[in-house]
Amino acid sequence: MKSSSCFLAVTVLFCLCLTSKGQLRADYYASSCPNLFKVVWREVFKALQNEMRMGGSLLRLHFHDCFVNGCDGSILLDGSDSEKFAPPNLNSARGFEVIDAIKAAVENECNGIVSCADILAISARDSVVLSGGRPWTVLLGRRDGLVSNQTGAANGLPSPFDSLDIIIAKFVAVGLNTTDVVTLSGGHTIGRARCALFNNRLFNFSGTGAADPTLDSSLTSQLQSLCPQNGDGNVTTPLDQNSTDFFDNHYFNNLINNKGVLSSDQILFSGDAATTTSTRTLVQIYGSNSGLFFSQFGSSMVKMGNISPLTGSAGEVRKNCRVVNSS
Ligand code: HEM
Ligand SMILES: *[C@@H]1O[C@H](CO)[C@@H](O)[C@H](O)[C@H]1NC(C)=O
Ligand SMILES: *[C@@H]1O[C@H](CO)[C@@H](O)[C@H](O)[C@H]1NC(C)=O
Ligand SMILES: *[C@@H]1O[C@H](CO)[C@@H](O)[C@H](O)[C@H]1NC(C)=O
Ligand SMILES: *[C@@H]1O[C@H](CO)[C@@H](O)[C@H](O)[C@H]1NC(C)=O
Ligand SMILES: *[C@@H]1O[C@H](CO)[C@@H](O)[C@H](O)[C@H]1NC(C)=O
Repeated sequence: MKSSSCFLAVTVLFCLCLTSKGQLRADYYASSCPNLFKVVWREVFKALQNEMRMGGSLLRLHFHDCFVNGCDGSILLDGSDSEKFAPPNLNSARGFEVIDAIKAAVENECNGIVSCADILAISARDSVVLSGGRPWTVLLGRRDGLVSNQTGAANGLPSPFDSLDIIIAKFVAVGLNTTDVVTLSGGHTIGRARCALFNNRLFNFSGTGAADPTLDSSLTSQLQSLCPQNGDGNVTTPLDQNSTDFFDNHYFNNLINNKGVLSSDQILFSGDAATTTSTRTLVQIYGSNSGLFFSQFGSSMVKMGNISPLTGSAGEVRKNCRVVNSS
């Protein structure tokens, strides 16, 4: 009897170890780097003090990291065959110098302990909170990948020209669902977009000779003068024209008012697919309930942060986020 209950206890412990392997934890660095959160917060604060837009840029880096080979810091790797040169990131993803600064500050605090992938996850949360959003508990323990996957980034990241069905399929491919698509698209309550990514909506949309009918006419004329035909495609405009750098639920009210900047924003509310997939209903719910949006945003961010992390002895803790460690 005694030995069998001992056997049971050993089995249970063994099983607990097996299930906890591969799982991220909030307190992963509690003893190895107790001031981690303080250091990252201070650095993100400094970066946003310098430029509020950086909050959006850092949030987006975590998203673009997680969708390609999981949340493994692969977007931070330099090189001409890296993810940085894939179309969704080229001349678009930004904030790499800020991540370098945060990593340097973290290394100074606890050398060789904290992965670049985890720094992205914490920075994304702090960016949202410093922009007026609500905090969530970030899970940690990711390790950094050894490869940057340019074709994975080119094919796996959603494009603003994708249909809603394609966007949903790209989220489903990484374990997220339609609710996460709408919720996380609310990240477009901060940050900017370049003319090249929406100017197809402004003139002769789909060969119709007119602008996209699902774009509000006064916003259409405003964007037409900002982004003239054959103009500079790199000129930027706020994704949320109402409260540009403030993390709130105005993004969803913009969609209800035909003021989504990207086609991929507006199709969450307008068009048949928005009705059949119920994204339209969720946009309306978030538009009238910012508390629900905030709490769901945190849940979906945790879910996104859980995409295929490297744990245990897989990968490494990079010393410099831009290059894999030399052996
Ligand atoms: C649903 C599919 C999505 C599409 C098609 C999409 C597309 C885009 C595009 C085209 C831009 C502008 C890039 C540029 O001007 O160079 C952008 C910016 C941004 N995206 Fe998304 N995005 C999506 C989802 C997300 C998600 C899930 C998040 C985060 C939770 C996010 C956060 C951001 C932020 C914060 C910016 C502004 C970045 C800055 O100002 O530097 N996006 N997105
Ligand atoms: C790159 O991403 C694609 C699509 O997710 C995947 O099939 C492929 O195995 C990845 N390649 C590497 C080297 O990780
Ligand atoms: C999406 O997943 C969450 C759990 O992660 C679940 O609560 C929600 O109901 C799902 N939504 C849809 C539309 O399946
Ligand atoms: C709009 O595009 C269509 C198809 O590409 C083209 O035939 C038409 O001439 C264009 N109209 C204008 C006003 O540019
Ligand atoms: C944006 O700027 C980059 C580098 O300055 C340039 O190579 C690229 O062609 C520009 N993109 C657009 C759409 O104008
Ligand atoms: C911004 O949103 C608020 C609240 O939804 C609304 O009252 C206001 O008219 C909006 N302003 C603009 C410029 O869209």
